[in-house]
Amino acid sequence: MADGFAQSVKQQADIVRVIGEYVRLTKAGAQSFKGLCPFHKEKTPSFNVQAAQQFFHCFGCGQSGDVFTFVQKMENVGFPEAVRTVAQKCGIPLPKREFSSPEEAQASRLRSRLLEIHEQACGYFEEQLQSPEAARAREYLTSRGVTAEAIAAFRIGYAPDSYSTMRDRFQSSFDEETMRASGLFSSKEQNDGAVGPLYARFRKRITFPIRNEAGRVIAFTARALDNDEKAGPKYLNSPETPLYTKGHVLFNLDKAKQSIRQFEFALLVEGQMDCISVYMAGITNVLATSGTAFTEAQVRLLARHTRQVVVNFDPDTAGANAAEKSIALLIEEGFSVKVVTLDGGLDPDRYVRERGTPAYIAALRSARRHSDYLIDRARTLFPPVTPDAKVKALNFLLPHMQHIPSRIARDEFAADAAQKLAIDSALLRQELKQAAFARRADVSSKAAAAPALSEAEKLLLRALTLPAGDAARELARKRLAQEPALYEGLAASSLLSAFVAAETISNPFDLAPDEASRHWLAAVLLHSSQEIQPEQVEDAFHSLRHSRLERRQRELRRQLAEAEQRGDATSVQELMTEKMTLDRALREN
Ligand code: UTP
Ligand code: MN
Repeated sequence: MADGFAQSVKQQADIVRVIGEYVRLTKAGAQSFKGLCPFHKEKTPSFNVQAAQQFFHCFGCGQSGDVFTFVQKMENVGFPEAVRTVAQKCGIPLPKREFSSPEEAQASRLRSRLLEIHEQACGYFEEQLQSPEAARAREYLTSRGVTAEAIAAFRIGYAPDSYSTMRDRFQSSFDEETMRASGLFSSKEQNDGAVGPLYARFRKRITFPIRNEAGRVIAFTARALDNDEKAGPKYLNSPETPLYTKGHVLFNLDKAKQSIRQFEFALLVEGQMDCISVYMAGITNVLATSGTAFTEAQVRLLARHTRQVVVNFDPDTAGANAAEKSIALLIEEGFSVKVVTLDGGLDPDRYVRERGTPAYIAALRSARRHSDYLIDRARTLFPPVTPDAKVKALNFLLPHMQHIPSRIARDEFAADAAQKLAIDSALLRQELKQAAFARRADVSSKAAAAPALSEAEKLLLRALTLPAGDAARELARKRLAQEPALYEGLAASSLLSAFVAAETISNPFDLAPDEASRHWLAAVLLHSSQEIQPEQVEDAFHSLRHSRLERRQRELRRQLAEAEQRGDATSVQELMTEKMTLDRALREN
């Protein structure tokens, strides 16, 4: 894409409006706006957008850039795609695209035709839902409490009971290649090996479009009206196509992302119907995983919007298994996870409709920490009455404990588990240590690459990761806040200042501004488990003060030598005075 075009888009685009689509901004000055940073977790806004100079900057995590940088980071796309996105948002017509290869050009053409055919198909199914044939489908939806409003919002439709109607209708607008590649049609291999004619994949089903984050329809899932075997699977999904990879999509992300940011968490349910019911009840930060456990791609997708999740999967075995896998993946990625189990064996859809929204909200409020959920699950699967069952329960829990990045949270989990499974807690810690061995070796080998921290810095970091209210922690925070100069310029200075700013910490790794910081944190958290006395914190400060004075002294010697060489008597005089004060301070400290 020509640079000139990017320049002109940048001039025409209003960064405040573009970012405002992703982040709730409030006016902070004549030309500046503030909001909660979408790139890191925070409770008070440190994300700034400057209208005059057209840039953003977060004082919390240090991310900054122009409107394209923002879209690149948010949408996880490259520069050309970001330019196109911004141009589209601002209604600026795109120049003809140039492609590096004919294949690329062809793939891109196919993609846009596939988007077009999906949009048409969605409209077609919506229209069919109003046809006489769809009377049963409409009754079915009504009986399940799906309102006209929900039908419109989710663009629910109906695929008629015909192999040919849809094909005949689409043949005039789309070539065969597009129709085949769309996954909306199937064909059978003929006896002579040739491909047979196309026919509609979805028939006599209620259709739900699956949309990407930008809201474009990229696939469908379609529910059978009948329960008999002839009807096939309950839900039939689009196959994978150039537009659609199942594990890469979160159902409803396009509509939910705004409120996920606002509420600072996402509610995860299994089924589309669960998602639709919950969303229509006003709980709009809800996403569906569509019946599978979370994939890594989905975790990354979600991590761009929040790191807090409430999981509400079905209360059956499949749901529990999917929940366990999802929890493990989310925890490993540093999410904080809570779990809801609804009573009466109801799924979210039925719970909302039968018990009402307030009851569902109450259930969400009572969500348990994922560790409590897992311990209960272990107790159900392996009632810990015999030593053998206890070992099994423990083996079920150990991998989950290992996934927790924070040592403190890990120890807490282990202590709770020991208590609830009636296992000797020293024994459990030993098991956990052994299980964590591989992980620790991995972390410390990486940490070796980062510059070393002084013992004082390590001790302070360790103190800062203690639970809020701990005397050593609070003392460390107070001192660091009083004397920011003490850690200015130190290797871990930005990490320390993040801890000073954090009132409470759910996951210390959230505060690590870069990879080196994460390694230091991991090393510090993994290595020692002793308590810290306030005196040790004072000692650490003493040593920080001392080394700061030493640094200044070295600097002064250098400056003095320079001033003498220049014959600058005034400077020499001033520097000497400072040096004498410093020498005294060093003797006393
Ligand atoms: P469920 O069987 O729990 O469906 O599967 P549900 O959401 O309760 O469906 P309703 O309420 O009877 O309509 C959960 C999810 O698993 C996927 C779907 O995404 C579904 O929402 N699934 C299920 C399939 O993909 N295919 C199937 O045959 C069944
Ligand atoms: Mn259901």
